[in-house]
Amino acid sequence: MSWIQRRRSEPYYKKARTEGFRSRAIYKLKQMDEKFELIQNGMRILDLGSSPGGWSQYCSMVNGDGINVALDLTLMGRIKDVHFLRGDIFHDDIWSKVLELSPEGFDLVLSDILMHTSGDRSRDQANSYFIVKRVLDICDRVLTRNGKALVKTLQGDLTEEMKKEFKKRFGRVHLTKPPSSLPRSPEVYILGEYYSGFQADR
Ligand SMILES: C[S@@+](CC[C@H](N)C(=O)[O-])C[C@H]1O[C@@H](n2cnc3c(N)ncnc32)[C@H](O)[C@@H]1O
Repeated sequence: MSWIQRRRSEPYYKKARTEGFRSRAIYKLKQMDEKFELIQNGMRILDLGSSPGGWSQYCSMVNGDGINVALDLTLMGRIKDVHFLRGDIFHDDIWSKVLELSPEGFDLVLSDILMHTSGDRSRDQANSYFIVKRVLDICDRVLTRNGKALVKTLQGDLTEEMKKEFKKRFGRVHLTKPPSSLPRSPEVYILGEYYSGFQADR
């Protein structure tokens, strides 16, 4: 079976198509929200790496009274109650652009970004570490006190280092893998809760 056939026969892929969602990723966010109570309606949420839009669709459904800002390198079709920005998280002024849409900052930063994987585990891990560090830099500019960040990464040698970076900023840190994440995939999510700003000595 080819990669694409395998993907299309996957239960969450079929479920997303049947239920009219843009990606199977929506179930990962839904399951992590159910487990950790990430989202309360009325929050200010920044969704990095948002296209094609499964996570943004979920935010639109559960955070209709809040502010939902989504950002991606590639275009995303319109979603009710979501402001989309096309951009690269590595551009210098990315935080000023997102803060124009939510001047008081964000209560939750989500990142489902992963660079194209090469199959070379250590190189993929290093790229993933680089993204996590950048997302944390963005958090340091836009996250409110006691805010949360949920960031995708690849499990491997650098996971402990990444958790340490989280612990320098967040009161509580979890490593989690939702049931809808394919067991063969090394992807995991790091969740930081109770953001208190960067503290190097932690
Ligand atoms: C796995 S997809 C996200 C799926 C999305 N969460 C959903 O629910 O449909 C990862 C996304 O990250 C985006 N991405 C990769 N590098 C990025 C960067 N440097 N800046 C912004 N977006 C990026 C890709 O364009 C891609 O759309």
